[in-house]
Amino acid sequence: MSKFLVAYFSRADENYYPEGIKAVKVGNTAKVAQKIAALTGGQLFEIKGTNSYPAKYHPCTKVAKAELERGDRPQLVADIDTADYDTVYLGFPIWWGTFPVAVFTFLEGHDLAHKTIVPFCTHEGSSFDRSLADIKRLQPQASVAKGLSLHGYEAQYEQADSKIERFVQQQH
Ligand SMILES: Cc1cc2nc3c(=O)[nH]c(=O)nc-3n(C[C@H](O)[C@H](O)[C@H](O)COP(=O)(O)O)c2cc1C
Repeated sequence: MSKFLVAYFSRADENYYPEGIKAVKVGNTAKVAQKIAALTGGQLFEIKGTNSYPAKYHPCTKVAKAELERGDRPQLVADIDTADYDTVYLGFPIWWGTFPVAVFTFLEGHDLAHKTIVPFCTHEGSSFDRSLADIKRLQPQASVAKGLSLHGYEAQYEQADSKIERFVQQQH
């Protein structure tokens, strides 16, 4: 049984990068999550809703905005018993200033009281924005560690590796 859970949401397909819009096979946050899991020996868990998103960037932003405004809470395609873990690394892209709605489903569906949540995000400029306040509001009895925020393009390449290593070392 592993002590660390690395729960993350990530979307592949088109995203905005400094050089323009392009498609990737593995999402930015997924790359970071995989590295954290390898460094901690933690259990990787993908937070994935039964809802879907367009592969194209701009149509995806419209769908994501509408579902956030409606307060959608998609069911998760798979779930995990978080009782076994005392530290939950929680990763997500910033979408419209916070995390995607499936992460709301995850946080509302688990009791992480007295556990440590270690947030990490990827973004294109807004850093954590409202997401940290949203985590604290939804899990008021959890201890929320100082998180790691990376630009999406950094996460895609090895530029971020030393930052991720330092971040993981700081947690232990
Ligand atoms: C629907 C959508 C909304 C986004 N909203 C923001 C935002 O509010 N602020 C920001 O800095 N980046 C925003 N981005 C950029 C993503 O946060 C960034 O590309 C991230 O690295 C994507 O991670 P992923 O590949 O793991 O899904 C948005 C991207 C999408 C697709």
